[in-house]
Amino acid sequence: MSAIQIDEHGRLRHLLTLENLGRAHIDALLDRAAALRATVRAGSALPPLLAGRTVVNLFFEPSTRTRTSFELAARRLGALVVNFDIGSSSTSKGESLEDTLATLEAMDSDAFVVRHKENGTPARLAAHARRAAILNAGDGNHAHPTQGLLDLLTIRDRKGRIDGLKVAICGDVKHSRVARSDIHGLAALDAAEIRLCGPAALLPAQEDVPGCRITSDFDAALDAADVVIMLRIQKERIEHLPGFDEAEYFARYGLTRARLARARPDAVVMHPGPINRGIEIAPDVADGTQSVILDQVANGIFVRMAVLAELLQR
Ligand code: CP
Repeated sequence: MSAIQIDEHGRLRHLLTLENLGRAHIDALLDRAAALRATVRAGSALPPLLAGRTVVNLFFEPSTRTRTSFELAARRLGALVVNFDIGSSSTSKGESLEDTLATLEAMDSDAFVVRHKENGTPARLAAHARRAAILNAGDGNHAHPTQGLLDLLTIRDRKGRIDGLKVAICGDVKHSRVARSDIHGLAALDAAEIRLCGPAALLPAQEDVPGCRITSDFDAALDAADVVIMLRIQKERIEHLPGFDEAEYFARYGLTRARLARARPDAVVMHPGPINRGIEIAPDVADGTQSVILDQVANGIFVRMAVLAELLQR
């Protein structure tokens, strides 16, 4: 899958996963995002890097942050944005995704931002795209590469680096595409330790996450951590989990101020959202001084600008 996202000249053709993307591509995207952010924060106008381009949002699952920030990113760089309405489209009459893609490509669409519950759907479309770029906005529990990039940028902003950091990723790791993209990005940028923590039923197999430390001991996972990434309990994906009790889960794995005291005093608290307050994170921690959750959201726009510009700039 990682092979088809880089073209024969070593340039990014699609963005499907951070796995094997490599440090040079990741650093370049983070630097470009930071430069675009600096332009905005200096009060200067953004260059119309996407003028004349058309970006189609193809979201088959709900989204607030990703869909809105892709739309804002594309519009602010001058692109035309189409929010494809799945419910009223011919996909509801049985048209295949490949035929939908070909139809919209024939209307001169340049990029498709795709979210789908099935792992590999963006890669499947990338294999069929004639000219357009495919951007994975989250597929099943496989990957969410722009979330991974915005998380890396947020950590780099606060810590000045990724290398050497101890990062705890806690909660429903097994069903999390965010966790997978974070793991691939953190490993590419030489994080010292990636700890994955949650109840055994919500943890991946060790062979699926080589190099990560897996534990169900939340206190041990938090011990002297530089970064704590809390994950949402994905109720829509864990209906099979027998006897899941929210209060019990919060008592064992909820991030409270007392629990956070085990991490480094300057540790940052992250969450990709949407947040289940009082289930995986206490409201005063989510809104507290160590939380960078809204910085993640703000960085999402600049990361998505950088990715779109990289893929679509002539
Ligand atoms: N983090 C994230 O993907 O949020 P949305 O589901 O709101 O896009």
